[in-house]
Amino acid sequence: MATELHPPTPSAVLPLYKGTGLFGYATDFMRNTPEFCHRMEAELGDFYEVKIPGRRLFVTFRPSVIRHVLQANARQYKKSVTYQQMKLFLGEGLVTSEGELWKRQRRLAQPVFYKAHMQHLYDTMLQMSDRYVEQLRERIRRQPEVDMAREMMQITSDIVMQALFSSRDETDKLNLYEGVTFFQQVILQRIYRPYLIPLHYLSGRQQKFNRLKRDFDRRMDALIQQRKASADRPSDLLTMLLEARDEETGEGMSDKQLRDELITLYMAGHETSANALAWTFSLLARHPGAVQKLRAEAEAVLGDRLPTFADIKKLDYSRQVIEEGMRLYPPAYVVSRVPVEDDRIEGATIPKDATMYISIYALQRSPKYWDEPDAFRPERFAGGAPRHIYMPFGAGARMCIGNHFALLEMQLLLVLLVRAFDLELLPGQTLETQPLIPLNPKPGIRLRLRAV
Ligand code: HEM
Repeated sequence: MATELHPPTPSAVLPLYKGTGLFGYATDFMRNTPEFCHRMEAELGDFYEVKIPGRRLFVTFRPSVIRHVLQANARQYKKSVTYQQMKLFLGEGLVTSEGELWKRQRRLAQPVFYKAHMQHLYDTMLQMSDRYVEQLRERIRRQPEVDMAREMMQITSDIVMQALFSSRDETDKLNLYEGVTFFQQVILQRIYRPYLIPLHYLSGRQQKFNRLKRDFDRRMDALIQQRKASADRPSDLLTMLLEARDEETGEGMSDKQLRDELITLYMAGHETSANALAWTFSLLARHPGAVQKLRAEAEAVLGDRLPTFADIKKLDYSRQVIEEGMRLYPPAYVVSRVPVEDDRIEGATIPKDATMYISIYALQRSPKYWDEPDAFRPERFAGGAPRHIYMPFGAGARMCIGNHFALLEMQLLLVLLVRAFDLELLPGQTLETQPLIPLNPKPGIRLRLRAV
């Protein structure tokens, strides 16, 4: 293994990992970054440099370093090249924007996600999830085998579209599902293999990307214009964002800003939850004891009725299952930042413009912090989630704005589905992680469902 000490500097030395790929680049890191960080913990530790083309990259999952970058010294860091590339698709929405624009947008959007609004959004989720479970029950009579990754993507996409636009049908109109993987593959290639960018143009991939993006923007703009022209203002996220006014200036958002926020919320608001749920179901299919426990809890708290908003808090074991699912398979497996000036962290110099790759995946599977880190044991969350070693929603000021929304939705779908179906993992699958923007399962998660 090509590990060597960093070129001598007066600062502390960090290990440098060089690969055996072309020009000594760490191709094994680039192939599957989260698995690499986890696998190499014993050899490289939790703070080191990896040789990749075009820029310097430091991997870390040491809690004190994470705190430094995301919280204590966060003002000295901006978002990394990953987010710059994501702008090609997301525009300047909350995930990718910085500085004054981000601050203003976060101020405007935050109230929309206050817990007080969650009751209304929960009613939407419940109605849609209940209908989905009934439709699925019908469907599996004819075809009991389903790809849970695809199923979860569809229902969470429908839910977020309903929450945003009060319309489920718009999902089809946007016709994004197939395009999403393609967008992400192009973006990741541009991040880790920038030298191939000219090839994207030669092969027509970049033009296809641009065409899809233009088309998507046009459809989003049409939805915004329709709403602005209509006297009917349903109480959904679009109306709330349209009516949001800055407390200091009294100003609202431009149409372009609104479009970028809506695309961002749509993308950030469903793929992540979908992946977390799909992985969790794959774990449950291998742990029937946990399924029994979930059903017993549902029976005790709910009997035969559907959960109300207030009930969700009482479904403590279902929360633990979701938390453990996201520990093992964090949908946002990495967050990354760049220092605006040279920084020193625990004796190491991090040069301006280098990337700090914070591996949430490796942190949440580190044997340093977790007993039997690769085992599925929801009970470890019985006393709550330990903050400094568990951060599926990130940390600091840029932490996820939709965490309450996501947790509600995931707990609800989990409970309804587990109560309705027995789950069996179809044999012959090797479930592998495919780290696109979220951590996808490859090639999907095929389950056989049987109505209980
Ligand atoms: C399981 C589900 C989810 C996970 C694991 C997740 C994870 C994350 C993480 C780790 C970040 C921080 C990124 C960074 O620091 O660079 C983030 C930010 C964000 N998330 Fe989520 N998220 C989830 C669901 C949602 C939902 C449902 C929404 C909206 C409906 C949402 C909207 C956002 C937005 C807008 C940001 C940017 C916040 C800002 O910088 O001000 N997310 N998310």
